Amino acid sequence: MESFLIKGGVPLRGTVDISGSKNAALPIMAAALLTDEPCVIRRVPDLSDTRFMVDILKSLGAEVSFVNGTVSVHAKKISGYADYELVRKMRGSICIAGPLLARLHKARISLPGGCIIGARPINLHLKGFAALGAKIKIEGGYVDATAKKLSGGSLFLGGRAGPTVLGTANVMMAATLADGVTVIESAACEPEVVDLANFLNAMGAKISGAGSPTITITGVKKLHGAEHEVIPDRIEAATFLIAAAATNGEVTVKGARADHLRAVLDKLGEAGVSVRRRGKDLVARRGGKLKPVDITTLPYAGFPTDVQAQMMALLALAPGISIITERIFESRFMHVSELARLGADIEIEGPSAIVKGGKPVSGAPVMASDLRASAALVIAGLAAKGVTQVNRIYHLDRGYERMDEKLKKLGARIQRVEEK
Ligand code: EPU
Repeated sequence: MESFLIKGGVPLRGTVDISGSKNAALPIMAAALLTDEPCVIRRVPDLSDTRFMVDILKSLGAEVSFVNGTVSVHAKKISGYADYELVRKMRGSICIAGPLLARLHKARISLPGGCIIGARPINLHLKGFAALGAKIKIEGGYVDATAKKLSGGSLFLGGRAGPTVLGTANVMMAATLADGVTVIESAACEPEVVDLANFLNAMGAKISGAGSPTITITGVKKLHGAEHEVIPDRIEAATFLIAAAATNGEVTVKGARADHLRAVLDKLGEAGVSVRRRGKDLVARRGGKLKPVDITTLPYAGFPTDVQAQMMALLALAPGISIITERIFESRFMHVSELARLGADIEIEGPSAIVKGGKPVSGAPVMASDLRASAALVIAGLAAKGVTQVNRIYHLDRGYERMDEKLKKLGARIQRVEEK
């Protein structure tokens, strides 16, 4: 296993290129299963998760290549069976269910199970499929979804934590080939859902309202091949903006979409971080002293859960008390005890973390537990005095493309080493 060795205390300076969005790319790659014609998807980040999706598509029978950020998929003939060994490695693989159901009228997919950040059920995905007329059976750890035909209908997809991103993607994809009109209420509004809808429309689907809580899909007989460029990764962009602020540096984040980052930019501003637009780029610089802020994670356009850990690393440096409340995933605070190893003073009270910021932080060995927690530990290590070893960075490699190389270009002293 590999680790990062970080010598902290160097302000990051320079320009960083943002990769394509992982969470947009994954369902878009799965959507290519909806047609027997070739699809070309550009600006796909080279990550273990996207490589993994390539393997899944291949295992279903599609011809797939992934060269220089371009994924080509030709799903001429496919099967509808996804094995436990494939699905358990990446929870996001559940987004093949909608396309398989739409195209083959049957899907047999291993239940993905929970993960470190929470239980992560798929009841809402299944509720959506059932509303389109699918019969759902759960047996032996597998979901069997079958339908003689899928028919449009009106359905409410809100759950206990609000809308579901991949659930919306799955039902939207299934509905593209259903008979009649499907209306999804309480749909997720995330930019990744909009990007998927744009790709599906380019394939000949008839979708309107994506980006709002009501999405309308008029079923069509067949979808055709299409080309698409994935949107920039808003979570990666936020991570670099925060790293710039945490190290008291100045970083130009190239191609970051400010319109996808409103809640993050708002909270960074409150925390005393200046983020200016320069053409199509965003430039982050710590204006003066960092200030504490209270944050609650919410579905889009609220503050993203995927930036909660990184923001906590920053607020640990801001003198005063910040309260961070996690409303999307019930156990997404695994980074708290690792940040404490660096000297951060954080207490968990129910769904909230109370950050008593401004305590000195210094390097220590820490363990990454999930993707965004790893990014928080890297940010904290970059800001801390001395050497931080972040272990198990395979979590980070799932969702950040060449993060160490990008940080090195900004002046960070960071090395990828074999874990001892
Ligand atoms: N939920 C249900 N039932 C369902 C589905 C979800 O109760 O059937 C609950 C979840 O347990 C959670 C909430 O609804 O409490 C929201 O989960 P959602 O379904 O929106 O999450 P997801 O679609 O599985 C995507 C991203 C996550 C990101 C979340 C929330 C991908 C591949 N994953 O997951 O990304 O945190 O949306 O924005 O798009 C990450 O990139 O680090 C990551 C975890």
